[in-house]
Amino acid sequence: MRKDKPSRTAYKVALNILTLGAKPEMDKVLPAGIVDATARLLVASGAASERVVRWHHWPKMVSIYEAFDWMLPGQFEAFAHRKAFCEQQVRDGIDAGATQILVLGAGYDTMGWRLAPNFPDVNFFEIDHPATARLKAKGIKEMGPHDNLHLISEDLGKRKLVDVLKSRDSWDREAQAVIIAEGLLMYLPSQAVYDLFRQCGSISGDGSRIAFTYIGKKPDGRPDAGRWTGFMLWTLKVNGEPWLWSIQPEQIGRVLKENGWTYSPELVGDINKRGVEFFGAAHKSIGTI
Ligand SMILES: C[S@@+](CC[C@H](N)C(=O)[O-])C[C@H]1O[C@@H](n2cnc3c(N)ncnc32)[C@H](O)[C@@H]1O
Repeated sequence: MRKDKPSRTAYKVALNILTLGAKPEMDKVLPAGIVDATARLLVASGAASERVVRWHHWPKMVSIYEAFDWMLPGQFEAFAHRKAFCEQQVRDGIDAGATQILVLGAGYDTMGWRLAPNFPDVNFFEIDHPATARLKAKGIKEMGPHDNLHLISEDLGKRKLVDVLKSRDSWDREAQAVIIAEGLLMYLPSQAVYDLFRQCGSISGDGSRIAFTYIGKKPDGRPDAGRWTGFMLWTLKVNGEPWLWSIQPEQIGRVLKENGWTYSPELVGDINKRGVEFFGAAHKSIGTI
């Protein structure tokens, strides 16, 4: 990503959520309250003007987004499913005993802000690059902060996750956690992805789970973005947020195992792909530190 500018991709995901709220039937997929909270956050943070937010609520915007769906087939609706998947992982993880939630590369995601008051005994943490985290913090301050929602501004390319959390008293590395990496891993080099999986294992207690999305790999080794892969990869690159990591879904279990996690497809359910993104989830392997 461009180091000095707020993430464009995080902004685009948030705008997509607004427009998905105007698409019939999507209310059955989108987590409750997400559209309003995202609209409020975008304006309060200064990431978007009220006018831009109003446009994206406009039903005609749905047709515009759908007209551009050829670039990443199915990806418009996939954002709703991706949000629903991550939130379900968090809710299921809390039901299973998790007391801390960590969202990596949170962007303008509102899950922590929406859920924190409903789960006062759970600590919610979000980490994002300072360029984006600064705006997010401004927005959350205006919307009303919660004591159990901790926003961390850090470049994970420069400082290790283990060190970032070590300096936080409220993070307990022995406690059961749910870690979310939504729309993040494709932007990291492969070594950074493996290292992140390892670090996630060492900062979380037994029974923890990690849920993430990733891009499949084409036989030629490039990320698989569908028919227009070349064009898409070029667009992402010129926008300063290129996709760096992809993997064939058959390989994900091996990579997780090598890095301290046990792939758990039963957590994902029958549909493990929406649009061009795969959904993955894993439990912390027993005996990993
Ligand atoms: C595609 S956005 C996804 C945002 C959010 N997870 C969502 O799906 O709504 C990727 C996010 O990762 C963050 N990110 C990228 N590189 C990062 C880094 N080195 N350290 C911290 N955050 C980073 C960006 O700032 C951005 O918010």
